[in-house]
Parts: sequence; structure tokens; C-alpha cells
Amino acid sequence: GRVAVLMGGTSAEREVSLDSGRGVLDALRSRGVDAFAVDGIPALIERIRVGGVDRVFNILHGNKGGGEDGVLQGVLEALGVPYTGSDVLGSALAMDKIRTKQVWIGSGLPTPRFKRIAKGDDVHAAAREIGLPVIIKPSCEGSSVGVSRVLADADIDEAVALAARYPGEMLMEQMIVGDELTVAVLIDGEGYTALPSIRIVPKGEWYDYHAKYIAEDTQYLCPGLDGAAEDEIRRLAMQAFVAAGCKGWGRVDFMRDRDGRFYLIEVNTAPGMTSHSLVPKAARQVGIEYDELCWRVLEATVV
Ligand code: DAL
Ligand code: MG
Repeated sequence: GRVAVLMGGTSAEREVSLDSGRGVLDALRSRGVDAFAVDGIPALIERIRVGGVDRVFNILHGNKGGGEDGVLQGVLEALGVPYTGSDVLGSALAMDKIRTKQVWIGSGLPTPRFKRIAKGDDVHAAAREIGLPVIIKPSCEGSSVGVSRVLADADIDEAVALAARYPGEMLMEQMIVGDELTVAVLIDGEGYTALPSIRIVPKGEWYDYHAKYIAEDTQYLCPGLDGAAEDEIRRLAMQAFVAAGCKGWGRVDFMRDRDGRFYLIEVNTAPGMTSHSLVPKAARQVGIEYDELCWRVLEATVV
């Protein structure tokens, strides 16, 4: 059938999505799939209306027209068009970091202490409660957009102002000092499998937008851990993915403190597939090349 590779859109992660989408499109074509690019949700709906879309490979990133937040998924359910990745529930939940953390806490899974913050709140009192250093970020963005690390009380206001530029709520989260890790979860027959973890070692101080997509000197170690720690992070990733109601594929981000304790940060339901991205690196480690990875995600289409 004809596969629309849905990319671009209107979120803050538009450029990343276009980059991911071009990779996916080439990969599917090289596997003989009749695939074509569509930029954004309105164009997709139009294309479906005139006929000629049998499935959607969703590689939009982000919220509000970004296609990762459940809105697109609801439209496609209503129109009866199968699509890759999580359905309405998992997409909407995972896009909202505050509520994802609440679900994880309710499931007994570890995540850093946090508070929802809004304009007009006493954010300094919130920081005292959580304890500096903290991370301040929009609840519903990706790729580190709008995220600040706050070491000193004097820097809180500026960080809140930055996060407030993005739609939706904000959160203040305990900053975990240690290693940043991520684990991809991929459908595997009837169940799911966790790919080897990746440990991210940015050249600069942290893994921000620049280190993610531009810098060539960010180091990625895969597997990121060994022995029991690697087993544990993969098990936590699967539990976190299932608890958040995610489907098909996704990537669960972690911090690990100096004592070796893991903390869940977030789950991404349409993870980046650029040449710098993490899921392709983890897949390669177990012999799944990029083209094969795209094929598997497409095969796992929710019908
Ligand atoms: N939000 C970006 C695309 C990622 O998770 O890879
Ligand atoms: Mg993200």
C-alpha cells in the first residue's frame, strides 16, 4: 500500500522532524515501499480525503500540530487510517511530562522530584522545596527546547521566563547529577524488547539542542552500562513504556546518579531518526540497520 511519511509540522521541532522524515522516506523506498512525504497534519488530511493513503509513518515531533501529542492519532482513528507508534492515550500522556511522571510515581517507578509551576507562583519557594540545582522546562516540548539548568536562585526567573514562551504548563524538577542514558523500546512479535542502552557524553556541559543535532563531538556509548545495571535500565524502560500506555516503538530517557540509582525523565513516542539520533544507534548495536528499523516500525502499525 501507499505510505505517507508524515514530517515537518508546526512545532518547535519542525526542523528535526524534516531531517528524521527524509531519512525514513529514503529507507522505506529502498525497501520497495511506495512511500511519499507529507508536510504537516492539514496536508495529510487533504491527501487522505482525495484518496491514496493506506498507512501513515508518523515522524512528526512535538505538540500542537507536531503530531506527537495524540491529536493526529485521534484524527487518523476517526478516518480509519493505520499509523505507526502510540495511539491517542500513549501519545497524549507521553507529551505531557508532568502527567507522565504522576503515572510513573503511581506505578512505583523512579523519577526526579518535581513541582508543576505556573506564572505568578512563588518559584523561589518551589526551588527551596525541591532543593537546588533544578531543571526548569516546558511540560510539553522536546529536544531540550526551553529547558534550563538552574544552579543558583538568582537564575530562576530567567529560566521560568524562557520555559513560559512555550505552550502548556511548566515544571521544576530536581536535577540529577550523573549520567544521561536512553533506552529504545521496539515491538517484537507479540511483545516488546528493550534495545541496548546508550550513555550520552556531551563535549559541553550537557546534552542540549546543539549537542543533539549539530555537534559532531558528542560521544555515544552503546551499550551504556554492563551487567546488572544494563539489565535494570532495560527492565525499567519497558515498565515505563507500558505504564505510559505507549505502543509500537519509543525511547525512554533516564538519568543515573553517582550512587547508580536510575531516574525516569520522559518517554518519546516519535523519537528522532536523524543521522545523529539515538534509536538508530541502539538498533545498529544489535544488527538492525536503519532501513530494517524503519521497516519494523512500519510493520507495527496500529490498525
Ligand atoms: N524529541 C526528539 C525528536 C527525540 O526524542 O528524539
Ligand atoms: Mg523528548
